[in-house]
Amino acid sequence: MSDHLTITPSILYFGTPVVLIVTLNPDGSANITPMSSAWALGRSVVLGLSSTGQGTINLLRAGECTLNFPAADLWPRVERIAPTTGANPVPTYKAEAGFAHEADKFARGGFTRQASETVAPPRIAECPLQFEARLLAQHESMQDWAGQPSRPLLLEVGVDLIHAHRDIVVPGTNHIDTERWNPLHYVFRHYFGNATNLGRNFRAES
Ligand SMILES: Cc1cc2nc3c(=O)[nH]c(=O)nc-3n(C[C@H](O)[C@H](O)[C@H](O)COP(=O)(O)O)c2cc1C
Repeated sequence: MSDHLTITPSILYFGTPVVLIVTLNPDGSANITPMSSAWALGRSVVLGLSSTGQGTINLLRAGECTLNFPAADLWPRVERIAPTTGANPVPTYKAEAGFAHEADKFARGGFTRQASETVAPPRIAECPLQFEARLLAQHESMQDWAGQPSRPLLLEVGVDLIHAHRDIVVPGTNHIDTERWNPLHYVFRHYFGNATNLGRNFRAES
């Protein structure tokens, strides 16, 4: 008998850092999109984003964003904005899943706007690590999404400028002090920091 079971989990979020993407809405206000399907590719970051998200729509329209990386202790603020979308009206499938419209996720999450230098969307002051980035390319997923209300897009953004809080930089260098940088991870809809389970996302099934 094998030690491994064949299982069918509803999601494949095996554990990746949380990214808070800030984009500008058409009226100039700032939206925050929490996400975790992101990975670095040289000087780019590849973002896996739902086509119906307001952040996705904003990034495709305006081509600019900031990527803000929360430390583990910010997880309750991330979860406060988790059941919300900047989209209005809320897509039906998301309303049925418990999402509501939120026009000001900065206020709801207790986040502070910090002006960027090379792009229009602001940064999130509370995040120790922040990237300013521009849309470089859009890749289509080849998965079969027929009949689905949304489909995932792979958006590649080029990182122009990187800001790191002085507390997580090795003094006098360009290096992140990995002893002091404690990123928040999203693992099968639970938040982790220090490899410790911090709590549940509202959609977690276990
Ligand atoms: C921790 C966390 C990680 C998430 N990861 C992703 C992701 O990688 N891609 C995605 O499209 N949505 C992800 N979501 C869901 C979006 O945040 C959600 O769809 C939200 O409504 C998007 O906001 P917006 O419509 O204002 O952009 C994640 C949510 C949370 C709380």
